[in-house]
Amino acid sequence: MMQKGRLLGLALCCCAMHTSFAQVRYEMLLEKNWKFTKGDVSNAAEQQFNDAAWQTVTVPHDWAIYGPFGQDNDKQNVAITQNGEKAASVKSGRTGGLPFIGTGWYRTHFTVPQFGAGKKVSIIFDGAMSNAVVYVNGQKAGNWAYGYNSFHLDVTKLLLPGKENTLAVRLENQSESSRWYPGAGLYRNVHVVVTDDIHIPVWGTYVTTPVIENGFAKVNLKTQVEIPGNTFKPLVLVTEIRDNKGQVVSKASNNLTTLDQFQFSQDFGVDKPELWSPETPTLYTAVSKLYDGQELKDEYTTTFGIRTIKYEAVKGFSLNGQVRKFKGVCNHHDLGPLGAAINVSALRRQLEILKDMGCDAIRTSHNMPAPELMQLCDELGFMVMAESFDEWKTPKVKHGYSQYFSEWAEKDIVNLVHSNRNHPSVIMWSIGNEVPDQGAPGGNKLAKWLQDICHREDPTRPVTVGMDRIDDAITKNFAAVLDIAGFNYKPHRYAEANSKLPQGFIMGTETASTISSRGVYKFPVEKKQVTADADNQCSSYDLNYCYWSQVPDDEFVKQDDLQYVIGEFVWTGFDYLGEPTPYDEKWPSHSSYFGIVDLAGIPKDRFYLYRSRWNPTQQTLHILPHWTWPGREGQITPVFVYTNYPSAELFVNGKSAGKRTKDTTTNQSRYRLMWNDVVYQPGSLRVVAYDANGKAIAEETVTTAGKPHHVELVPEKKTIKADGKELAFFTAKVVDAKGNLCPDADNLLQFTVKGAGTYRAVANGDAANTELFHLPQMHVFKGMLTVIAQSTEEAGNLTMEVKAAGIKGASATVTTTK
Ligand code: GAL
Repeated sequence: MMQKGRLLGLALCCCAMHTSFAQVRYEMLLEKNWKFTKGDVSNAAEQQFNDAAWQTVTVPHDWAIYGPFGQDNDKQNVAITQNGEKAASVKSGRTGGLPFIGTGWYRTHFTVPQFGAGKKVSIIFDGAMSNAVVYVNGQKAGNWAYGYNSFHLDVTKLLLPGKENTLAVRLENQSESSRWYPGAGLYRNVHVVVTDDIHIPVWGTYVTTPVIENGFAKVNLKTQVEIPGNTFKPLVLVTEIRDNKGQVVSKASNNLTTLDQFQFSQDFGVDKPELWSPETPTLYTAVSKLYDGQELKDEYTTTFGIRTIKYEAVKGFSLNGQVRKFKGVCNHHDLGPLGAAINVSALRRQLEILKDMGCDAIRTSHNMPAPELMQLCDELGFMVMAESFDEWKTPKVKHGYSQYFSEWAEKDIVNLVHSNRNHPSVIMWSIGNEVPDQGAPGGNKLAKWLQDICHREDPTRPVTVGMDRIDDAITKNFAAVLDIAGFNYKPHRYAEANSKLPQGFIMGTETASTISSRGVYKFPVEKKQVTADADNQCSSYDLNYCYWSQVPDDEFVKQDDLQYVIGEFVWTGFDYLGEPTPYDEKWPSHSSYFGIVDLAGIPKDRFYLYRSRWNPTQQTLHILPHWTWPGREGQITPVFVYTNYPSAELFVNGKSAGKRTKDTTTNQSRYRLMWNDVVYQPGSLRVVAYDANGKAIAEETVTTAGKPHHVELVPEKKTIKADGKELAFFTAKVVDAKGNLCPDADNLLQFTVKGAGTYRAVANGDAANTELFHLPQMHVFKGMLTVIAQSTEEAGNLTMEVKAAGIKGASATVTTTK
């Protein structure tokens, strides 16, 4: 659900915040001018505490992303049992090698001119990592243990009317509390919401669409109200349903009755509804006005979509009556070089890259998503499996969520569901990932308990768990309890599992976990379990997997051949900080190799394999590897082509190396075109694709590169918003004199931002690179990197200048507009 005050654009005279103003509901973000320090400070909660010496930061803020990297940061001497390890060994980069452990304090000051008698004030934290304890004017306002969840606190009694208030937040991250980089600090937004004391509470509406048929939809909106002292008042709620052009399409006015228990239930009819889907992400809004007599008490906007979801035996999943399979990816929450600090334009960029791949679904592994991500999934069209936990009662890591489970699990699920249940994008809840309780006595009871909480709070969506212990899950009646049985890495057992389970359909909650480093190719080329090599890199021929995982095509065959498998969620869409398998024990690796797209947001070869299958509206024709192999002359250097076309012919230096057509000989030959015996000579590879009628329809060429000559710098967007938040992403490539990518270049680039922007960060996608993201220089990895600038609040031209050691630099400009 998105809760918005009506923005009348009236600025508030307070330095610390971005503001919006409405007559009866007033909301602001606390963004600028926070004070921050690492370490514990005994009296930092006190109102009079002098924080002048602390660092000034802007929230969202991740205190640990600035490094330095170090193998002693959260070094874990553990056996990763879910990876089949029996003996403990030292894992250096498991959680990213960044200094996120320990305590941090944030303080800010704010005034609330609208506050006074008869008002109510809540503070919403979209996520605070972790163990947040919140103080207002020196008094404890509340606390929340889990760093990924949204929570809100009623601070009305603690505020000083007409005076400056102090908000202090203490956060503490324990060692060995995670299997990946969690981030640190106030990494998501902090909102202040001021209402009348007769009001609609935080997350206080719930929209459902109980009937959608024959060009008609019935929409039901439940709206809670809070009245001081819980005394009944005959309030009136007037709600307009507006379409995406703002036209009112339905309206209702209801009186609260003594039977309503402080909750309105309004029904609406919408004719010819435009149904929400990934391809048509149409949104509606319900704009509600709450009256006490003639007096407007609150105004609340709920954004929603109209769509049906159905899960049924054999047929599987359907959206709006159309059977479809999830073309999904799992993503962790970090944004690579930006760390965990959320940024809307960085999230949007990730989703746009995934959209281009044809991806239509996201699993928010393994925790609650940021509200901004959910809003973007609604708007851009992604179906979301909104997840909650990586652990229940039985631990996976020493200080993980298991320590909180008994006390917090219900509260955490309730907040997940309440804050997200109006999003049309959410098509299921996930209550856990590979929880060891699958095999523990009473595990199925826990599953049922959590699932029942989801059903109680939202009867419209099913619940799943990503299960890895398939035998336990089946024999101990764990999988049977769930609405949807989701399995991680079990394509070879889908048929068996489906035959033993009652649901009649199953899902690949987590698939593939193929590993690769962008631009790295290793020989001989063979399909095999990955090994840890001296170079801390993995081959990009997309044939290497972990002992528990697969290459993409081994999942594709099951998705294609078994109707009752309702889709897959690939591990992962993007590389993330932490979990550098197969180099968990080999510093300096500290970020993953699982991503289809690297940490810099640059697609790896695998991107095109998925795109060729998932994006039916675009042509994909991609050749690998690169063709610059000094020293490999005369050696076998296989060439693969990922394409949506059925066949293609390869020409090596103009000479045909034969035509290949996808066939069912192996899982790989069904989805890739492969020339396994090409002998390398410098020159060119040209591939010509043929359509189903044998007509030449497209071609691509890769040419041997000469020496690095200059930098090519390309902005991803020409225009960005001058709001001080939006980011401009630039791809930098080291190329030869003719513009060919130099695939082994590792030149150091240095950046200067001029004009209407500031330098923000850089990443090159090398999982073993310990250069810091926020410094304005980095070596290219395999010839490439992504550099990021941030707009200021002044419109103008933002210019990124790049200098490079030994070669010609570049510059590029984007326009920033108000
Ligand atoms: C799964 C797990 C993920 C990630 C992945 C790597 O077992 O659920 O979080 O660890 O393996 O392949």
